[in-house]
Amino acid sequence: MHSGTDFYQQAAQAIRSARRLTAFTGAGISVESGIPPFRGSGGLWNRYDPTFIEIDYFYRNPKKSWELIREIFYDFFGRAEPNAAHRALALMESRGLIEVVITQNIDNLHQEAGNTTVYEFHGSSQFLVCTACGNRIHFTAAGLEVLPPACGECGGLLKPDFVFFGEQIPEPANSRSFLEAQLADVFLLIGTSGEVMPACGIPFLAKENGAAIIEVNTEPSSYTGRITDIFLQGRATEVMARLVEALGIG
Ligand code: APR
Repeated sequence: MHSGTDFYQQAAQAIRSARRLTAFTGAGISVESGIPPFRGSGGLWNRYDPTFIEIDYFYRNPKKSWELIREIFYDFFGRAEPNAAHRALALMESRGLIEVVITQNIDNLHQEAGNTTVYEFHGSSQFLVCTACGNRIHFTAAGLEVLPPACGECGGLLKPDFVFFGEQIPEPANSRSFLEAQLADVFLLIGTSGEVMPACGIPFLAKENGAAIIEVNTEPSSYTGRITDIFLQGRATEVMARLVEALGIG
C-alpha cells in the first residue's frame, strides 16, 4: 500500500498547490481518542444492534433507547479529547491550508482541537433538543440520571441533536457539504469506511468534479480502489504527524 515517503511528498505537494482543500472525516479519526468506530475491528455495530438509534424505535421505546444512548454516547464518549490527527487539521487551518472540515462524527473533537468551520453532517451529541417544543440545551444541562430526559420548558421528550437512522441530514451541513464537493480541488478523507449514504456520496461527487482524493485509513475502504489517488495507510495520528512534517508546518 502507498505509505512510502514519496507518497507523503506527493500528498504534501497536492495540498500545498490546492486551490481549496476540504477534509472529510469519519469515526476512525477519533479512535485514538478512545472512541470506538462503528465498523471494522472493535466496531460498535459488532457489539450493539443499531436499532436503538432508529428514529421510529426511539419514539416507541424512549427509555430503552436512551439507556443505550447514554451508555455509548455520553458515559463512554463524554471524556474523549482531541488527538494529534484532530490537532493536525487545526494546524492546517491555522496555516491557511484548509478551510472546511466535513465530519460524520458527533463528538465535537474537531471544534475542541480548534477548527472553526466544521460541518457536522450527522449533527452533534453536545446538545439535546425537545421533540415537542424545539428547546435546545447542552447535554450537561440535562440531568441524564433520569431517563428518558424531559424538557425543562414543556416536559416533552428530549433527543440528542444527532441524526438517527431514518432522519434528515441537518441544514446547513447538508447543502454546504455537497457544495464543497463542487468547489474543492483536493479532498482529504480521514478514517471513514465510506459505507453510509448520503455522507459517503460526498467524496465520490468531489472526484466526479475533478478533485484529487487523499485518503488516510488503517485499511482500505470503499473509496480506496475506486477514487483514492494517494492512500496513506496507517493510524490517523501517525499519518497526520508525517503529513504535517512533509508539509513543513510541524
Ligand atoms: N486511524 C485511521 N483510520 C481508522 C483508525 C485509525 N486509528 N481506526 C479505524 N479506522 C478506519 C476504519 O478502517 C474504517 O474504515 O475508520 C473507518 C471507520 O469506519 P466507520 O466505523 O464505518 O465510521 P464512519 O465511516 O464514520 O461511519 C459513517 O455510520 O453508523 C453511522 O452515523 C454513523 O457517522 C457514522 C457513519
